Amino acid sequence: MRKKLLSLVPEFQLIRDADLHEKTINIWEEAIAAGDWDIDDLLVMPFTLLIEKTPVNIITHTRAVTSCSLQIADVLMEAYKDRVKINKDFLLSGALLHDVGKLFEYAKEDGIFKKSPAGQLLRHPISGAAFASKFELPQEILHIIACHSKEGDGARKTVEAIIVNHADFVNFETLKI
Ligand SMILES: [Fe+2]
Repeated sequence: MRKKLLSLVPEFQLIRDADLHEKTINIWEEAIAAGDWDIDDLLVMPFTLLIEKTPVNIITHTRAVTSCSLQIADVLMEAYKDRVKINKDFLLSGALLHDVGKLFEYAKEDGIFKKSPAGQLLRHPISGAAFASKFELPQEILHIIACHSKEGDGARKTVEAIIVNHADFVNFETLKI
């Protein structure tokens, strides 16, 4: 499964810290197994249930949010130098994991993706952060996952969490219109 996951999401390779790289990809593998998904399901799993029949799958979305996050970080660091401090490994891991909770929030019935019973109770920022916490990820990354959507509204966020939050919304809002 790892080989296919790495070929689908080459951005895993951008995480420099070997331990964090391993944990980030392992969380995806374990979430696929725990949700009883097949890796090929990810290629047809919509990135959102809020845009009817969107052709954009969770892999494409995760990669786009990760790329946007990295590019936002590069622009901010170039423009503001030391005034904005960004941990790129935290940013990458958080962006790659921000929607992993959707593997618990969704279920597939007769080929149709819908909210799972668990997903009716816990949205993916919460279930994703809770699942990822079992893997001893830095708190900064759990924070990015937990705060990337409306669950983080009003919360004091790190720079990395602000970036992923906005990268995620620009990748949702622009497809919604
Ligand atoms: Fe997302």
